[in-house]
Amino acid sequence: MLLRAPLTAVWLALLLSCSSEAKPNGSKNKKPKQVIPAIECDVRAGKINLPEFIAKCPSDCKQTKSQVYGTGVFASISSICNAAIHSGVITNSGGKVIVRKMAGQNIYRGSNSQGLRSLSLPKWRESFVVSVGKPKKGVIYPSTLDYIPSRPTYSKTGEMDFFLIMQYCKVDIAWLMDGSWSIGKRRFKIQKDFLAEVAQVINVGVAGPMMGVIQYGDDPVTEFSLKAYTNSRELKPAVDKITQKGGMSNVGKALSYINKHYFSDANGNRGGAPNVAVVLVDGWPTDKVEEASRQARESGINIFFVTIEGPDEYEKQNVVEPNFVDKAVCRTNGFYSLPVSSWFALRKAVQPLVKRVCDTDRLVCSKTCLNANDIAFVIDGSSSVGTGNFRTVLQFVANITREFEISDTDTRVGAVQYTYEQRLEFAFGQHNNKADLLNAIKRINYWSGGTSTGAAITYAAEQLFSKSKPNKRKIMIVITDGRSYDDVRAPALAVHRQGVIAYSIGIAWAAQDELEYIATDPDKEHSYFVDEFDSLYKFVSKVVNNICQEFNSQPRN
Ligand SMILES: *[C@@H]1O[C@H](CO)[C@@H](O)[C@H](O)[C@H]1NC(C)=O
Ligand SMILES: *[C@@H]1O[C@H](CO)[C@@H](O)[C@H](O)[C@H]1NC(C)=O
Repeated sequence: MLLRAPLTAVWLALLLSCSSEAKPNGSKNKKPKQVIPAIECDVRAGKINLPEFIAKCPSDCKQTKSQVYGTGVFASISSICNAAIHSGVITNSGGKVIVRKMAGQNIYRGSNSQGLRSLSLPKWRESFVVSVGKPKKGVIYPSTLDYIPSRPTYSKTGEMDFFLIMQYCKVDIAWLMDGSWSIGKRRFKIQKDFLAEVAQVINVGVAGPMMGVIQYGDDPVTEFSLKAYTNSRELKPAVDKITQKGGMSNVGKALSYINKHYFSDANGNRGGAPNVAVVLVDGWPTDKVEEASRQARESGINIFFVTIEGPDEYEKQNVVEPNFVDKAVCRTNGFYSLPVSSWFALRKAVQPLVKRVCDTDRLVCSKTCLNANDIAFVIDGSSSVGTGNFRTVLQFVANITREFEISDTDTRVGAVQYTYEQRLEFAFGQHNNKADLLNAIKRINYWSGGTSTGAAITYAAEQLFSKSKPNKRKIMIVITDGRSYDDVRAPALAVHRQGVIAYSIGIAWAAQDELEYIATDPDKEHSYFVDEFDSLYKFVSKVVNNICQEFNSQPRN
């Protein structure tokens, strides 16, 4: 900073002393020649370690698409040459520009100018302006540019990383603020200031992150929905108007509430944007959070916990659920939890927290047991079933299906009916919403015939699982009421080897040994038997719960 003001003076002084000594070769008033260093189109102002300098831009920088952030005043991560074009200082044919560094700004607004689009950016540590490359009389600028060496880790850590993440921050975030009495007026105000600053840094917008606020105490209330504000400027005063509710710190209740009521389409939940809930809690919750969190996670909500002045080792004994954070988050690796030692240190958490909630690649919790499957039903249509019972089987299929989130990018369902022969009732993705799918299940016509379960499993592998998406979990549910006429063992083994998780549901005369061959190990968890069709309904929740338990116990990336 010291350099900034005296710079021109220093150069003037240098110039004067040079010219007074440069006599011997004659011509006293020979003008010192200004050498103008050339730069590339993608050179950012922040890369050059000088407060003020002149440089020459090449032609055709527009085509390089080197990014520019701001209008008039640019964030120092902007391309110098394109900032100069945007400002109208040079054209796309290049030319000389003078760059002057400035202090960082709180917001850089993007705009269209000279056929070049600049982007918006919240907060950067340094700015610059560009002007026409004609040095003022007597001023000589450096003839070489002092580049800041690039550190190989630069993009892995630090602000560049933050900036890159922010570029792709399209998430729907519910902020759960603590309104309990324990927090007090002053801290409640700190909490509001924190949210206002988050809004500023995150830069709310319909193409980027959207945020809403819920205040919880005894009960949660929506302060405003996800779609209430489409920019940070309007959102901030809304945060400021929030008044403290008081009451307990019922976080579990608040998490149930957002799961059931908040992340709805009517409330602004956007299909393509991951759902994030950030819980701010003073100390610890006054109710249990584990079950509510699990349900919220399973419906795709990524839960973050910011614990301010959390319980110490001694206080933990008094807490309703001692490890509430670990029980609430989908990973206990620290990514989803941010302990803050005091309310007065909360401000420092803004940037690290925003960076995490915007890091959509790491929001793995939005992949859940309910939305990550390709499920194939393999349905026995043999004569022994009978028309009435077949309808019950279809109800069973529909009841399981109903529990999942159905779409082409979520869970997909396919169905095969078999006797001696096999029939593809519908393929994965053929019915891409729940209503259509349930209708299609209802419309399956009872076939009646023999029972070749082995051939049906092979058929399902060929017709359905061969078209499974690589990131989906392949689940097969075989429903049969009798012993198969063919071998089931080899076909079952083959699909297990392809990574299919197989469930067998046996009714009445189904053979125990075959059910176990079909089922993935451990059999107890994947094979069910009932004496009569009327008891089938009992296994709907068992199957669904097992699918979810298995999913949740497996390590994911
Ligand atoms: C005079 O100019 C010549 C060539 O331009 C240079 O080599 C020489 O060093 C100069 N002498 C002085 C005293 O600057
Ligand atoms: C399916 O769900 C309905 C409604 O909850 C229930 O009445 C029926 O018994 C269930 N049937 C089966 C087979 O699961």
